[in-house]
Amino acid sequence: MVIGETQIAGGPDAIDMAALYLQRGEVVAVPTETVYGLAADAQNQDAVVKIFQAKNRPANNPLITHVLSAAHAAHLTGSWPKSARILASAFWPGPLTLILPSAEKLAPAVSAGLPTVGIRVPAHPIMRTILEKSERPLAAPSANTSGHVSPTTAEHVLTDLRGRIKLIVDGGSCAVGIESTVVGFEDEQPVIYRPGIITAEDIQGALGLAGISTPVRHHVAQGSEQPLPSPGLLSRHYAPHRPTHLFMRSDVAHLESMLGSRLTRSGRPGVISFGPLPRTPDNASWIMLPEDLYHAAGELYRAMRSLDRDDISAILIELPGTRQLSIRSGDASEINDVIPRLSGMARVLADRLMRASMPWPEAHR
Ligand code: TXA
Ligand code: MG
Repeated sequence: MVIGETQIAGGPDAIDMAALYLQRGEVVAVPTETVYGLAADAQNQDAVVKIFQAKNRPANNPLITHVLSAAHAAHLTGSWPKSARILASAFWPGPLTLILPSAEKLAPAVSAGLPTVGIRVPAHPIMRTILEKSERPLAAPSANTSGHVSPTTAEHVLTDLRGRIKLIVDGGSCAVGIESTVVGFEDEQPVIYRPGIITAEDIQGALGLAGISTPVRHHVAQGSEQPLPSPGLLSRHYAPHRPTHLFMRSDVAHLESMLGSRLTRSGRPGVISFGPLPRTPDNASWIMLPEDLYHAAGELYRAMRSLDRDDISAILIELPGTRQLSIRSGDASEINDVIPRLSGMARVLADRLMRASMPWPEAHR
């Protein structure tokens, strides 16, 4: 699907052009506070289908719809659990998506066969202006090719979607840097389908709950034709093209054995850590992210994308928040076991990194 040149543009003219394209049923990449989105008029089925085509996204993975306010969200949805209302007033505008019953006012492709819609009120001023000017609810998944790391700059979008879309509105780097927290409701109880910078602890605090369900380990077979409970839970996702492996700071021996192993024989290894490592990795391209995981989240995808290049043999990423855990990390199943023991942002980033380090399913190799 070649549509010619892709233009990157910023400023008021770019915003006006984006609104015009969206009204005409075209797709446009737009900045949000989390990651760049690939937007289309959520009430125009042909326009929404173009999102799936441009991203090569499986048709059974529903899209998030962006609106200006909770009142707009209410217009597109059926009845809300009480906890949904509390979360909307606590965290909107912001990086929270609520899965609510659909009022069936959107193009069917948005919900991908589910009786619900994912809705978010974004905070980014450019995205809000585009919503105002286009006067439409905007369906927008992350503006990457399906399965790849989400884009946090206009250049990242261009890398993935060059020639497949006409316009990328440049709003600089996304401040949050990882995708919104996705919360659904099962028997009126909130369930975190995708952890995010609004953490389980934040949601519990807002709702006065002692605990909340986070089915991080829901793994659904990739390529399945069934509607999925929340398809972002597919195992491999947010993934660089280079083989990606995790290590724990408490197990330097494991990192060193990976650095010296066949994983890294065909080139330089890339290493991403959260803060300094006990020993500088020899002969590696090393990116040290901030120890503060909120700040690190803002830079993580940029780091993963910058190491995803031909001269890098494998990307080795620290599983954050494991400093205190004295577990050997050589065995992937042990890393799985560690995730439920993490909390706050460590748990959030571990979820993304787990998915980034899953092997590609056969069909994608
Ligand atoms: O921060 C974000 O959420 C970004 C920006 C652009 O807003 N968007 C984003 O969209 O990350 P996407 O499509 O990459 O991720 C949306 C997630 C997917 O895991 C999808 O399966 C889930 O939300 N989702 C959307 N609608 C849903 C629904 N009705 N039921 C369950 N899950 C849903
Ligand atoms: Mg995505």
